[in-house]
Amino acid sequence: MTRRRRAPFVAGNWKMNLGLREAADLSRKIVEARASVPEATLVLIPPYTALAAVAGAIAGSDVGLGAQDLYWEKQGAFTGEVSGPMLRDAGCGYVLVGHSERRQLFGETDETVGRKTRAALESGLTPIVCVGEVLEERDAGRALERIDAQLAKGLGGLSKGDLSCIVIAYEPVWAIGTGRTATPVQAEEVHAHIRQWIADSYGNEAAACAIILYGGSVKPANSYPLFRENDIDGFLVGGASLDAGGFIGIVGEALRAHREEK
Ligand code: PGA
Repeated sequence: MTRRRRAPFVAGNWKMNLGLREAADLSRKIVEARASVPEATLVLIPPYTALAAVAGAIAGSDVGLGAQDLYWEKQGAFTGEVSGPMLRDAGCGYVLVGHSERRQLFGETDETVGRKTRAALESGLTPIVCVGEVLEERDAGRALERIDAQLAKGLGGLSKGDLSCIVIAYEPVWAIGTGRTATPVQAEEVHAHIRQWIADSYGNEAAACAIILYGGSVKPANSYPLFRENDIDGFLVGGASLDAGGFIGIVGEALRAHREEK
């Protein structure tokens, strides 16, 4: 499928890291360094407790804010949960849904991912829907089948309008936090497959518009070759996003690949 490539979209998932001061410091450094990568879209995804501090630190910049999860109900007796409207209130424009750590450690299923994706869209948040196979599935040649099932349920029931510009993150579970990255060829195979799945289910326009991120041990040294692949639109970065230099280094290398294409 031919389409015009966009400048990189890079989101930093801070996971359960950083106190208020550290979070605000890191955000300020990223806002400062942002001038060196002006075309890129940047999103910071701190833990809930730091959302307000990060929102303050990035205010007035075009750096985006996201949360790591949400619950599908809007309010009520759901101790410990946070809703889409609450995240909007906190300044979020994005929310991760179905990160593999939520799936593996906290019982998230393809069905709950679907409910959360719909709730995010209803609240006016852009969901970043995470999919990815575990090592046994890859070794058994069932990676694409697993991705299809995650997409079918994770995006299930959405209309074409809902899906106007979805963000999907492909994160092979065996590459997260392990230092083992998918090769550009391995990642591109899955990204192209995801785009085709969107085209088949929601039409070519939705597929061309979809932002498909790669995640799993992304660092400055591997972002250039990954971004050169046709269907890799950016990155969801964990560990390396906790350092402003590493995060901006990843964005800069992707941008170098983007500029060469023009
Ligand atoms: P990692 O994490 O970059 O530390 O591998 C990626 C993620 O979990 O989003």
